[in-house]
Amino acid sequence: MSNIFYVGIDLGTSRTSVATSTGKRITTRTCVGYPKDIISKKRFGKDYLLGDYALDNRLGLNIVWPLAEGVIRESEKSLEATGLILRHIIAEAIPDKKESDKIYAGIGVPAQASLNNKRAIIDVTTDYIDKILIVSEPFAVAYSIDRFDETLIVDIGGGTTDLCRMHGSIPEKEDQITLKIAGNFLDDVISKAILEKFPDVQLTPRIVRRIKEKYGYVSEVSEPVVVTLTQNGIPAEYDITDILRESCLKLTNPICEAIQKLVGTFDPDFQEKLRNNIIIAGGGSRLKGIDRAVEKSLRDYGGGNAATVQDAEYCGSIGALKMCMEMPEEYWEKKSRATQAENRSNRF
Ligand SMILES: Nc1ncnc2c1ncn2[C@@H]1O[C@H](COP(=O)(O)OP(=O)(O)OP(=O)(O)O)[C@@H](O)[C@H]1O
Ligand SMILES: [Mg+2]
Repeated sequence: MSNIFYVGIDLGTSRTSVATSTGKRITTRTCVGYPKDIISKKRFGKDYLLGDYALDNRLGLNIVWPLAEGVIRESEKSLEATGLILRHIIAEAIPDKKESDKIYAGIGVPAQASLNNKRAIIDVTTDYIDKILIVSEPFAVAYSIDRFDETLIVDIGGGTTDLCRMHGSIPEKEDQITLKIAGNFLDDVISKAILEKFPDVQLTPRIVRRIKEKYGYVSEVSEPVVVTLTQNGIPAEYDITDILRESCLKLTNPICEAIQKLVGTFDPDFQEKLRNNIIIAGGGSRLKGIDRAVEKSLRDYGGGNAATVQDAEYCGSIGALKMCMEMPEEYWEKKSRATQAENRSNRF
């Protein structure tokens, strides 16, 4: 007898997370490392390494981050890398899968991902996913917490910030905004700002990300943020309190403007309810003070109420899982290219 396994996948620019109907939760960085030369290939004994394992060994590898701004980059290597990540994470999540078993997957993509990108995902997974549902990331977040009434979801990821207005039915195009301003953008801003003030310090993307995740804030006040950085290998302490706040505001200000836009263009009878039900998700929801910063930005609009999700890491994949366990047949993607043109894939 064959079994059906349901899998919810949040395919993110920086992280990919999976939740399954068997209760498994797995997350990995969305990257693949290919050995640089014959020596590194000999050392690793593999054609590629995945996720954190690849990053821990990055000096011997060419690291490919296949997604940018939430969508698969247009290159053969990126398609291949996306396929490898998804294949391995599903195999790890469903270790007991038999040949005759079926995998039905829901995969989250940015609210405004193109049809081409959705097709690319279907194509790279065709060998190991039997049925696929492509869902908008913020809608998956809403689904995971059962919020279908007037609620504004703000999913701050690595490559994109996705906003989606819920109003009791499937959101339309005008209910969704995708901004290319998210965690990676903030890393760049912080890195440039530190180097402008301290031109000779040594920074890597990992150092900057760690500083941001540990100390980043958009509240009015903060304890002094003093970090140890090196200059020619010599460590010293640097005060980056103001740099960090000013940089983080460059992320939150455009997000607050997008929130105001979605509130301001909503049915006036329900604007108040929307303003008071703002849910912030994604890794960026962990930025200290972000809920209060959003509330403050809505003061001129009559105020508002914002909360961050409990489980920033898995709420997208759990929502995608719930959706694929509940969706009727007509919402699933057709796998053949010919029928895809008529497909209703833009619905979520
Ligand atoms: N405590 C924190 N403070 C600020 N940012 C954080 C914190 N923790 C994680 N992040 C950032 O959140 C981002 C990752 O979020 P998430 O995992 O939701 O992204 P993603 O789903 O991979 O990306 P996308 O949805 O854009 O494709 C990274 O930029 C990460 O540095
Ligand atoms: Mg995401």
